[in-house]
Amino acid sequence: MVDRNGCGHDRPVLTGSPRSPPPSFVEQANVSDPGIYDEFEENWPECWERAADLLSWRKPYETVLDDENAPSYQWFPDGTLNAAENCVDRHLESGRKTHTAIRWEGKHGERKTYTYRDLYVAINEFAAALRDLGVEEDDVVTIYLPMIPELPIAMLSCARIGAPHNVVFAGLSADALATRMDAADSEFLVTCDGYYRRGDAFNQKSKADNARLKLEQDVSTVVVDRLGDDLPHVLGDDEYDYHELRETFAGETIDPVPREAEDMLFLMYTSGTTGEPKGVVHTTGGYLSHAAWTSHAVLDVKPEDTYWCAADIGWITGHTYIVYGPLALGTTTVMYEGTPDYPDRDRLWEIVDRNAVDIFYTAPTAIRAFMKWGSEYPAGHDLSSLRLLGTVGEPISPRPWNWYYEHIGNEECPIVDTWWQTETGAVTVSTLPGVSEMKPGAAGPGLPGMDVRVVDSTGTEVDSGDSGYLTIARPWPGMARTLYDGDKRFQAEYWDRFSDPDTDDWRYFSGDTARIDEDGYITVLGRIDDVINVSGRRLSTTEIESAITGVAGVAEAAVVGRSSETNGTDVYAYVSTEGGYDDDAAVREAIIDSIETAIGPIARPTEILFTPELPKTRSGKIMRRLLEDVANGHELGDTSALRNPEIVGEIQAEIGEE
Ligand code: WTA
Repeated sequence: MVDRNGCGHDRPVLTGSPRSPPPSFVEQANVSDPGIYDEFEENWPECWERAADLLSWRKPYETVLDDENAPSYQWFPDGTLNAAENCVDRHLESGRKTHTAIRWEGKHGERKTYTYRDLYVAINEFAAALRDLGVEEDDVVTIYLPMIPELPIAMLSCARIGAPHNVVFAGLSADALATRMDAADSEFLVTCDGYYRRGDAFNQKSKADNARLKLEQDVSTVVVDRLGDDLPHVLGDDEYDYHELRETFAGETIDPVPREAEDMLFLMYTSGTTGEPKGVVHTTGGYLSHAAWTSHAVLDVKPEDTYWCAADIGWITGHTYIVYGPLALGTTTVMYEGTPDYPDRDRLWEIVDRNAVDIFYTAPTAIRAFMKWGSEYPAGHDLSSLRLLGTVGEPISPRPWNWYYEHIGNEECPIVDTWWQTETGAVTVSTLPGVSEMKPGAAGPGLPGMDVRVVDSTGTEVDSGDSGYLTIARPWPGMARTLYDGDKRFQAEYWDRFSDPDTDDWRYFSGDTARIDEDGYITVLGRIDDVINVSGRRLSTTEIESAITGVAGVAEAAVVGRSSETNGTDVYAYVSTEGGYDDDAAVREAIIDSIETAIGPIARPTEILFTPELPKTRSGKIMRRLLEDVANGHELGDTSALRNPEIVGEIQAEIGEE
């Protein structure tokens, strides 16, 4: 076992009995020839033309891969294309203009349907408005919107005029928005008045206003009126109403700007090893090719499908698999604004039933919740339209996997357990549903053309059955090209650990640990860095700690992950106050406030434990690993090397009393 820093390493990692894909699925699958693995292997990197050829290129590429400046690889570098043209315009030309592009399901049962033609009109008008506001090619436009149709419309409008978008999850705080806008030098913001959270109107614009106050640059802001009279708002200087802009530019068309394949399509901030979020840079050609290819080969998307990825577009899963992948393939993508249990726990199944959804893709956290609520909720609906199920974001253990297979898929739908990251752009490890056997609890092998390896600390591949670090030894089209603040951090974060620049041997390190079996199937175990995965969302423990230590009266804090039945991992915070031990309700409240202000409610700890001191090494380093063991009730190793070993017993006693 490698360093036990991450979360969940001690959870059982057994895989369930293998299952073959149903023959009826294989017969119709986009990819069903097992020869595809050899084909990609023998013909690498040209094999990736299969992905690029799913797109329409303005200027065809001649070079597939340029590795001159590794690890900043370039894919299809001499080709040009436009992502919005690929996701919208070309489907009009192929006679699909009345086909539904986006089927939107609102929180309160409202519904909207955008055909490809509707989407075309919307993105042309909004692209014209953005231009008029002064957005030029390569200007970063920040989008801070909940799951409403204006979110993908704004993204595609940006793509049309070659302005990279920087979507910030709507649930993040004003501070988090300001940090991301500042880091991205962004002078344009698209937001809304507010949105409904559960039943209540929630003010988003005031968060955006507060963020703008913290920024040095002037910001032009577009506000979507989502709530109407439920939350009146006033527009200030340099603020514009989305619907009025659309009216002003009604009927305008904007030629899609041809972008070089390597031009930035978007930026996406994600948590890293330090408190500073990382601005992951994705390009137009490689990213879109990989998004389209994996939607085709892994999610089996066909133009005539109704496809639903129940994620939020504010994170990478929604970018790739609600917007870019499915729209590039011309399918119908479902977009859901609400939560799975409102107004009732059968909400998702009602949507599947009513829309006759063919493909459903969600996260293990959701599946564990469905399992807990009981099979009567899906059983009350006709789910027979489903053909394929997917999961992403966290490890899924065999029990919820089997529940999903049985109660949602009726044992007739293959499940793809897809491992990937913000940085990989699109799915990297997964079975191919029309080819491979599934093993509940293991994501699968690397996709064709991917060279995924589990290695020990020297970079040598581990034996099957063993665990190690999850690395990728060859580039792939959807990979992040750099971080917005520079190549240096990009190399330090992902490449330095296992690469040898002297021999030009570049290995991408994911930050995850994994086990590999005799068939090359990978079971992801957890992260080795200071990132925890709460309900499939990446949070930085350092960032949470700094929000806690910012509270008056707090001396020190250590944040760790605790395994949780429902969330995968919960946030667990140890805090020592300046006065020594002080379980003070006011401090507790201030801590929660500070975390919600710095990051957002998603980072709120499940537990805050006050302790007189934190366990430390003799050199004064907080022993987070030990605290994680304590939080998880694990047996502790030798603690005698600590400067203050007695504190561990005190903390354990404290937890025991709760
Ligand atoms: C975790 C989400 C196990 C992993 C697409 C990774 C998974 C991080 C899986 C990336 C999976 C994602 N099985 N773990 N199928 N998929 N992860 O950037 O730790 O939000 O490094 O991208 O989620 O999270 P991110």
